[in-house]
Amino acid sequence: MGSLWSHPLQLGQTKILGGEARQLTSDERSAAPMPSGSADLVLTSPPYGGAQKYIRASSLSLGWLNLCGSATLGQLERSSIGREHFRKTETSELPDTGDRRANNRLKEVSRSDPVRAALFANYLAEMGLALSEAWRVLKDGGHLVLITGDNHLKGKPFPTSHLLRQFASDRGFQTRLILRDRIRSRGLLTKRHSAASIIPEEHITVLRKPA
Ligand SMILES: C[S@@+](CC[C@H](N)C(=O)[O-])C[C@H]1O[C@@H](n2cnc3c(N)ncnc32)[C@H](O)[C@@H]1O
Repeated sequence: MGSLWSHPLQLGQTKILGGEARQLTSDERSAAPMPSGSADLVLTSPPYGGAQKYIRASSLSLGWLNLCGSATLGQLERSSIGREHFRKTETSELPDTGDRRANNRLKEVSRSDPVRAALFANYLAEMGLALSEAWRVLKDGGHLVLITGDNHLKGKPFPTSHLLRQFASDRGFQTRLILRDRIRSRGLLTKRHSAASIIPEEHITVLRKPA
């Protein structure tokens, strides 16, 4: 538990929660779900679909800090939203993303690039679960701040931010504010898969669970 403090406002207490965004727990070590309607604010910068290899980029730090050994790294990668590795069976049938047009486009892409299609379909389906979990833990009147980036798929724009806002709205969130911020510096790998382009700007969306 720490203090979230910004002069002259005392913003309250912070607490480290369990690490899985689709199933938030009361603390890092507990399997007990975080109580529904208990949070005033969820502020999240979730993975960008297929734009970063988060686990590969942090594998040495995870080992040095004793947070994850090499034996469990694969398991962590498999639970990572936006991952790039899929078993053959996972690429043959795409999950429902929650959006009909996205489903159709991904089905089309799947004919020539089943892995990229599986990546985006799983990313959207799993982000939908994370948004449902954010909705569950928020109090009525609470806010969700969502930081997202758009992607390119097979050379054409893919409206990830718009889709995630749509999913949030499907769950009942109201959009209060959308900001755009150009990404000026990059801490992780920028040289990527030829099909993955660099994300030039982030969208910061403030959403509200109605009171
Ligand atoms: C855009 S980065 C945000 C990093 C964060 N803002 C920070 O400063 O550490 C997205 C993060 O989400 C993590 N992530 C991936 N899948 C997740 C999951 N299922 N639950 C929680 N976090 C996940 C990634 O490992 C990565 O660290």
